[in-house]
Amino acid sequence: MAAVSVVTGAGSGIGAATAAVLSARGDRVVCVDIDAGRAEETAAQLDGAVATAADVTSPEEVAGVVAETLNRFGDLHHVVTCAGIETGGHALDVDVTTFRRIVDVNLTGSFLTVQAAARAMRDLGHGGAAVLIGSINSQMALPGASAYCASKGGVLMLGRALAVDLAPLGIRVNVVGPGVTDTPMSAATLADPERTAAFMARIPIGRPADPVEIARVIAFLTSDEASYVTGAFVAADGGWLAG
Ligand SMILES: NC(=O)c1ccc[n+]([C@@H]2O[C@H](COP(=O)([O-])OP(=O)(O)OC[C@H]3O[C@@H](n4cnc5c(N)ncnc54)[C@H](O)[C@@H]3O)[C@@H](O)[C@H]2O)c1
Repeated sequence: MAAVSVVTGAGSGIGAATAAVLSARGDRVVCVDIDAGRAEETAAQLDGAVATAADVTSPEEVAGVVAETLNRFGDLHHVVTCAGIETGGHALDVDVTTFRRIVDVNLTGSFLTVQAAARAMRDLGHGGAAVLIGSINSQMALPGASAYCASKGGVLMLGRALAVDLAPLGIRVNVVGPGVTDTPMSAATLADPERTAAFMARIPIGRPADPVEIARVIAFLTSDEASYVTGAFVAADGGWLAG
């Protein structure tokens, strides 16, 4: 029987690519996004996928996604938390509303999503796999990114803590740390030749990632090929953190 996978942030970028890669290997994919239209667009291109709109910062909406998944497919095996936002600004200038929103979406949203999915897996009586999306900024700070770095550092430790709590239930939890990836989130950076050159100088592979290159790592971590991998941080960053 096909595995059932929930992917948040599936309306764009890494989430959309992940939904496509998981669908191509035969998973039934639930494409979740705060933007209903974009979630629909992703799902419409994939065999057997469905779309649902939800804000991952809402425990009720996230629980609704899991309920809808069980209602539609009767099962749930994998959850991938790609929903995320990034807003820059010097630490002295970031307002508290912005700081809280970034942490709420990137960190609390990841927690709520995995918690709701893991509760369902426990009730279904089988294990599963969760992949959280961190960043190179889970381990390394860039200027003007205090809220984003705080949220992504939190995702790294959240993944480890969830891995420890959920291993007895047979649920593996890992964190993928993308480097600069060619998605709408990084479009402004990649449209600026000076910033792009500065970034490329720090990437041994010398180019941004295509979102599918991140999605394939996520697909591996949700597969049985990764049956002994939990609590890991897997950088997919063209070598940035190595250099
Ligand atoms: N693009 C990069 O260079 C890069 C690098 C490292 C990490 N990441 C991380 O990868 C993840 C995906 O980023 P991306 O580049 O694909 O960005 P993206 O902007 O292309 O896609 C993010 C998606 O998340 C959705 N989203 C935002 N807030 C949401 C919410 N509250 N509830 C549900 N959905 C919500 C958006 O509508 C959007 O469709 C993010 O966590 C991001 O921080 C991206």
